[in-house]
Amino acid sequence: MSQYRAIRGMVDVLPDETPLWQMLEQTARDVLAAHGYAEIRTPIVESTELFARSIGEVTDIVEKEMYSFPDRNDESLSLRPEGTASTVRAAVQHNLVQSPQRVWYMGPMFRYERPQKGRQRQFHQLGVETFGVAGPEQDAELLLMCRQWWTRLGISDVLILELNTIGSPEARASYKAALTEYLRDHFDSLDEDSQRRLDTNPLRILDSKSTSTQSILDGAPSMADYLDEESKSHHERLCQLLDMAGLAYTINPRLVRGLDYYNKTVFEWTTDQLGAQATVCGGGRYDMMVNQFGGKATPASGFAAGLERLVLLMQTLDLDAASNPDLYIVSSNENAFGQAMLEADRIRAEFPGLGVVQHLGGGSFKSQFKRADKSGAAWAMVFGDEEMVSGKVTLKPLRANEEQMTLSREELDTFLSQLEQLTNEY
Ligand code: HAM
Repeated sequence: MSQYRAIRGMVDVLPDETPLWQMLEQTARDVLAAHGYAEIRTPIVESTELFARSIGEVTDIVEKEMYSFPDRNDESLSLRPEGTASTVRAAVQHNLVQSPQRVWYMGPMFRYERPQKGRQRQFHQLGVETFGVAGPEQDAELLLMCRQWWTRLGISDVLILELNTIGSPEARASYKAALTEYLRDHFDSLDEDSQRRLDTNPLRILDSKSTSTQSILDGAPSMADYLDEESKSHHERLCQLLDMAGLAYTINPRLVRGLDYYNKTVFEWTTDQLGAQATVCGGGRYDMMVNQFGGKATPASGFAAGLERLVLLMQTLDLDAASNPDLYIVSSNENAFGQAMLEADRIRAEFPGLGVVQHLGGGSFKSQFKRADKSGAAWAMVFGDEEMVSGKVTLKPLRANEEQMTLSREELDTFLSQLEQLTNEY
């Protein structure tokens, strides 16, 4: 019989990795709550047009990466490739944009890309979107919040913030025209991908990986010369706020992002630890989208982080989040097992901070201790023939250099409450 396998580019997260994922997610929730952000949950599937209109018809995502299909009523639907469009749709539909909003979401996104390290077809994002604040202080808050998250994860030293401003749509249009004219004169020296993009999405040529294209770009007109005054002062004030907060950044005038909806601020957090898929988080301002989706014109700004890349980064840095049980309970026979089960149940109820695993499936003490050791538990709790007679329990240390102890139930409770306190402090 043939074995089923996961679809290419869609990955199982196995039990030895989930503690790291949970730690990442919990840290994000804590940081977001501490900044007054609330969660929003939108459907995985939306109309294809929603994404095409906002992300842009001639972007890679919409041109070749969406999982689109007709439903039974022949309406074209797509698995969400990102979360911003859905969030704006929901915010307009439910009138959330009447007053300033700060929301976040976490979940799977889908893009039909060529899978490689740090790039999957189903991947996960933590996304944050804010509505109603036009000034750069909103962008600054988002970036400071990112920094708080990186610090709590222990990865802030290996991340660089790249920052740029792409101006108003009008400024961008005139820059686009100038860039296209310049690049047309150098058409034959451009790489194939950039030649194709020249007519569809010339700004994307700016972040081409081809060295020959990059050297042609060295002589290209610069976005900075085409910026409108408002975008310029927005950018200057943002830089000022980041300087004040001691948040280091690199201005990257060629940073344009792969989605068309941005204006003014754009940014990416990148690392040199992950090879080609170096961007762990990206975002910026998208002041036109709410209006484009039928809402009253409302400024907006946000970002999304790729959770797979953050997990990879933490693994590269050997930052682990093992969650081992505190107690592993072994018993000598059926009778002792019954007692042990009741005791485990009581301990879990009275000491909810402790992780208590009971050995199931019988076997010799030797094999049970082997499993206890493998579980990573700190202590084995033994219910043997002696313990059944004396009414006491034996605690055997599995990790720390401690003494074995035989305790009365009262002594046991004192010990467990200390252990619980220690676990919570950790
Ligand atoms: P994005 O740059 O397309 O932006 O994606 C954000 C992050 O998702 C990337 O920096 C990367 O870490 C991760 N990511 C993207 N594609 C993949 C993939 N195929 N495999 C693994 N990770 C991936 C957005 O999606 C915007 N919605 C961000 C935003 C929110 N802008 C404003 N608000």
